[in-house]
Amino acid sequence: MKRIAVLTSGGDAPGMNAAIRAVVRTGIHRGWEVYGVRQGFEGLINGNMALMAARSVSGIIQEGGTILGSARCPDFHTEEGRLKALRALNQRDVEALVVIGGNGSQSGACALSEMGFPVVGVASTIDNDLYGSETTIGVDTALNIALEAIDRLKVTASSHQRAFLVEVMGRNCGYLALMSAIAGGAEAVCIPEVETDPEALAQELRSSYQRGKSHAIIVVAEGAKYNADELMHYFEKHRDRLGFGLRATTLGHVQRGGEPGAFDRLLATRLGAAATETLARGEHGLLMGLRKGEVGSTPLKEVTGRIKELDMSLWKLAEVLAK
Ligand code: F6P
Repeated sequence: MKRIAVLTSGGDAPGMNAAIRAVVRTGIHRGWEVYGVRQGFEGLINGNMALMAARSVSGIIQEGGTILGSARCPDFHTEEGRLKALRALNQRDVEALVVIGGNGSQSGACALSEMGFPVVGVASTIDNDLYGSETTIGVDTALNIALEAIDRLKVTASSHQRAFLVEVMGRNCGYLALMSAIAGGAEAVCIPEVETDPEALAQELRSSYQRGKSHAIIVVAEGAKYNADELMHYFEKHRDRLGFGLRATTLGHVQRGGEPGAFDRLLATRLGAAATETLARGEHGLLMGLRKGEVGSTPLKEVTGRIKELDMSLWKLAEVLAK
């Protein structure tokens, strides 16, 4: 192996830069040349890549986002798009590719790998829905950002005897919502995995008020049956019987833009380094992730088309703790 390329794809996640740094520096350490592809698969299709040096990744380990840029690329879903990407790689004699990203990105990685090109994936998404990794790069930081917001909202909620609906990201997965609800001491949580009953939530709010709570926090996953605005609309019609005043806050991309914490920097560094080790052993078609607390790999074929399941015992725990 002499030359590899690395790209970041899909939603950016805090820690992606640490993963890029690890791939670049461990690759250079092995005597390889490492190309950085700009704007994910879109850049790959357009041959938008440049050689990176050890100094190209200086001072980025603590930065959120991705210095390579990222994109969602519908063209890569087509064989034509992937063939263009292969041509761009072959033109530069690139022998293998590292793809840092979540579900959509690893499906792209798998498709390329099935066309015969050596690819290794690195598990990175704030949603934590990627099969093959207990936790993914960016989750811990995004969770801490959501928690900081919840803690602050609780302060103002208590001052005004209000209930706050807090909408968090996570696409179709309730992980971020459930974990931030448990760690933030929320009164209720709505996730896509469980059908939300607005009437039951309204009763829960009323009951929390009657039990003497000074505030109520309801964490709503963006993929839940009703989003925060829809629930707000429902609750407003029942305002008189709820007790609490009502406000809604949507955190959105605020959760993605943070500086990675220690956990994400270390996870990203370990997974990035493991990706080059894997390629050096002549192995590919694998996703590098965390398995039973250790760095491990899962065939990309097994990852594609699957969503990691949420531990529903934690949902039950959240309900009990909210009392
Ligand atoms: O996959 C990460 C994520 O932030 C999801 O939680 C969210 O649904 C989506 O990306 C938002 O995508 P975009 O940044 O393209 O608006």
